[in-house]
Amino acid sequence: MQAVHGMTETSEAAYKDEKNRAFFDDWATKYDHFRISRWFQHTQRTSIEQFNIGPESKALDVGCGTGFSVLYMADALGIAKACGIDISPVMVEKAREKIPVQLAERIEFREASSDNIPYPDGFFDHVLCTNSFHHYPDPVAALTEMRRVLRPGGELVIFENAPDLSLYTWAWDRYLRLREKGHVRYYPSRELGDIIRRGGFEQPELRLLKNEFLKEGKLFASIQIWHARAPGPNGQTKDRSTNNQGLQAQ
Ligand SMILES: C[S@@+](CC[C@H](N)C(=O)[O-])C[C@H]1O[C@@H](n2cnc3c(N)ncnc32)[C@H](O)[C@@H]1O
Repeated sequence: MQAVHGMTETSEAAYKDEKNRAFFDDWATKYDHFRISRWFQHTQRTSIEQFNIGPESKALDVGCGTGFSVLYMADALGIAKACGIDISPVMVEKAREKIPVQLAERIEFREASSDNIPYPDGFFDHVLCTNSFHHYPDPVAALTEMRRVLRPGGELVIFENAPDLSLYTWAWDRYLRLREKGHVRYYPSRELGDIIRRGGFEQPELRLLKNEFLKEGKLFASIQIWHARAPGPNGQTKDRSTNNQGLQAQ
């Protein structure tokens, strides 16, 4: 994290969280109506495709925004439990408003930060984080929490921008660091892989690293998608998914 002049690390993290809360509270009411939301939804579906999802799966989306992924996993993919946390109370409110009555038992949204996830150890089979990780003041603490709430062998998928792939994305990151007070940084793919390892995941796999042009309302984007599994009690990773083919969207 870039030092904010005169602040300790703790107050710097609290400052970033506060700025993110305010920024996304303000954005939340319009979030689903911007052209960019088409792109965000595409990135979320593409990320979810990386999971080995089964009907009994429990999934968590960290930094869930207005809840598109959570609703998609519960509705289109029919999974047993889909949860989302977000630091912005207005994002959480907007996400809750979208829960259809017939899915109310299987969907949950909570206001919470990535470094203090309000679920017990080993609760989830899948943890997703899309377009949000670059806001986290302590990325290793966030990953440690994501690993804690995953069962042994459970899957993590992270979708992020890739500043090592284009000068444009590198420059955009520099611009956001100055303009958006809650923006921490985009990570070059190799560095993000190292951070995922430092969060306690073994052998993270870079599933996608590419430039996209004119896709889903977005002119240009450099993107990376990471997949990793939580180690078992003795360090080994296990796959206990009930459906190795994954589920098809209906
Ligand atoms: C650009 S939105 C992405 C939302 C959604 N994941 C998507 O792909 O469209 C970033 C979200 O991350 C949330 N966020 C930022 N910092 C966070 C933190 N430390 N913990 C949890 N959520 C956070 C914001 O409130 C916002 O809703």
